[in-house]
Amino acid sequence: EKGGWDSFMDKEIHEDPAAVQRTLLGRFDERGDITLDEVRIDDHDFKSIDKIIVIACGTAAYAGQVAKYAIEHWVRVPVEVELAHEFRYRDPILTPRTLVVAISQSGETMDTLMALRHAREQGSKVLAICNTQGASIPRESDAVLYTHAGPEVAVASTKAFVAQVTASYLLGLYLAQVKGAMFRDEIRQILDALKDMPAKIQWILDTQMTAVHEAAADMVDAHSFLFLGRHVGYPVAMEGALKLKEIAYTFTEGFAAGELKHGPIALVDEGEPVVFIVPPSHGRDVLHAKVLSGIEEVKARGAYIIAVAERGDKDVERYADVVFWRPECPTLLSPLVDVVPLQIFAMDMAKLKGYDVDKPRNLAKSVTVE
Ligand code: F6R
Repeated sequence: EKGGWDSFMDKEIHEDPAAVQRTLLGRFDERGDITLDEVRIDDHDFKSIDKIIVIACGTAAYAGQVAKYAIEHWVRVPVEVELAHEFRYRDPILTPRTLVVAISQSGETMDTLMALRHAREQGSKVLAICNTQGASIPRESDAVLYTHAGPEVAVASTKAFVAQVTASYLLGLYLAQVKGAMFRDEIRQILDALKDMPAKIQWILDTQMTAVHEAAADMVDAHSFLFLGRHVGYPVAMEGALKLKEIAYTFTEGFAAGELKHGPIALVDEGEPVVFIVPPSHGRDVLHAKVLSGIEEVKARGAYIIAVAERGDKDVERYADVVFWRPECPTLLSPLVDVVPLQIFAMDMAKLKGYDVDKPRNLAKSVTVE
């Protein structure tokens, strides 16, 4: 069943490229027209949407945070991301023009299901992004966009995450199309870039494993890790930190790199491992330079720096102790590649410590209680 791999987690990480590819399959044509066949909300309702709220938990909520950056940029509609268990108890503002997007791998997460019911009771439309056909969340939604990652067995979510992010991009581009927020050519360009992403993920799996294994071996005794990123690198940092907590039982904290000087830098001491998600060095110069100055600051305090950065980034090479390289890709799509070495890194750390990577202690694959 594990197809020759040591663990389901191993197998599922290696299915990241296929998960993205299958989620894109058959959803747009040559001209760049997107059709989301499982969506049963009519265009008129989509056109009138003036706010989107993503509800989800854990990894799915980090996929939602990536969605926020992409959808706000493309569609110019405000997107909030809220943990499903917080959402229902704070009297959220919901109207018939609010689109609630429930993201869930299992489709059975009780917190997300209860939040979805609350949203529908208030008259909002709910669209589910889900990996499990016929589960409770898609059944109770007005529309469903299935991720086609295939069944995920390992408790820690990996291929489902990249599929959720992919589905979120498709939803964003679909909304941009329906609302006329982007030109057809712009949409097509992004779709072309998306089609290239599975090969880019594969490149990571083919070429970056040695660096990841070495970093894990170097850092296996570390007591804590910090993960930092900006823009879409911020949710990737959070997700990388969560993976390491879940399966390697290492204390980690993920945060926005800009926060460093507002407090967390006090934690940085000689030898402290700090993982930076560095934005592409082309195009977004401002953010690249800002993340780099964060790297310099922690380096000056003796931190051990692991960076995820674009191939050929000389500045990063100068400061980082280890670099996991990414191929060039549009910034908004970079989470699809950047998360992959972090998934492997967490798995390596857990294996080196002798833990069962598929069944971490205290965790269940599907959390069906509130
Ligand atoms: C992380 C993980 C959890 C789930 C969360 C939501 O690796 O597995 O954080 O992402 O429990 O689960 P779903 O997506 O099934 O609603």
